[in-house]
Amino acid sequence: MSSESIALGQPTVGEEELAAVAEVFRSGWLAGAGPACRRFEERFAQVTGTAHALTTANCGSALFLGLKVLGVQPGDEVIVGDYTFPATGHAVVQAGAKPVFADIRPDVFSADPAHVEALVTPRTVGILAVDVAGQPGDFDEYRAIADEHGLWLFEDAACAAGATYKTRPAGSLADLAAFSFHGRKGITAGEGGALVSDREDLIARARKLHTYGIEPAISREGSATLPIPEFHELGYNFRLSDVQAAIMNVQLDRLPDLLAARRSVAKRYHEAFADVEALTVPVELPDREHPWQAYLLTVAPEVSRDALALRIRSQGVQCNFGTYASHLQPIYGPQAPLPVSADAFARQLAIPMHANLTDAEVTRVAEVVREAVQSLS
Ligand SMILES: Cc1ncc(COP(=O)(O)O)c(C=O)c1O
Repeated sequence: MSSESIALGQPTVGEEELAAVAEVFRSGWLAGAGPACRRFEERFAQVTGTAHALTTANCGSALFLGLKVLGVQPGDEVIVGDYTFPATGHAVVQAGAKPVFADIRPDVFSADPAHVEALVTPRTVGILAVDVAGQPGDFDEYRAIADEHGLWLFEDAACAAGATYKTRPAGSLADLAAFSFHGRKGITAGEGGALVSDREDLIARARKLHTYGIEPAISREGSATLPIPEFHELGYNFRLSDVQAAIMNVQLDRLPDLLAARRSVAKRYHEAFADVEALTVPVELPDREHPWQAYLLTVAPEVSRDALALRIRSQGVQCNFGTYASHLQPIYGPQAPLPVSADAFARQLAIPMHANLTDAEVTRVAEVVREAVQSLS
């Protein structure tokens, strides 16, 4: 692909982030769980409408820690929205439990509450629901199912920073939520993640587990005695470094502008593709604010999605499939068919979506996609 191609995703980072990193260099605290992480955690809890936040190395580790502190045991079943990057299902397996994949709504691709309910068995302990492309799923319905069956509810909000559901921020919709700050997400430090919750006990336990089973060193700073931690449980190093947290503090300042820029790109795409019969544009539900982590078109069955993608790429516009149907991934072994998710996996197409796209680039993407569809129809 030529270096001048229009990127599928791109971070928005610049002088402010560099200045924040320089500040961390001067402070000498480059390791994780330091002052920059603390500051970000306080601010991110506010942004997500939760009482507590913990920074983590990435979203996968936040999901894993979350499942651990929820008490997941071998033999437990966790119902997981199928259409997602398989980090979601992986975390369940890594925590020793069995992911049971739920089919999805055909319009917004998040777990279909009716199918979630149908999958509950006496072994089910919780629901791990994914905000697909960042748009929250049906959390009132998931909550009702969870309450009826005594399950916990966990939000995979990897792509959802800044999204809302019935005016409530993503992150506050379940007992726990996990975010990703990977380079293709709405706010990013290259890699990174966070776990948020109103439950102090859950975040406190996760905090210890994320630093080898002891309280982070910052908690012993300035002590008049010589506190020597004891190790009682097997923890991990899942810390975000303070270098990354400093970047995230600037990214959080930028969040409103980044969301507005993505929203404006989505609006222009909607208009550009409204009359293209072979394409269905993504749906934003009226009671939710979509953060547009990705813009996923659905290609009509008569047109080959793969051929379309290759044609668009050949014109210097990056694009890709949407995300994965987890149940079709060999790692999980044979699974029951989930036709809606399998169909989305086969027919969705991600086109460039990020906050740096210029008007001219959006126009160019729209032209290239329209022409490519015409040439294959
Ligand atoms: C829905 C979802 N969950 C989890 C992850 C994993 O995030 P990370 O790469 O930060 O571990 C991703 C990453 O793409 C994702 O999209």
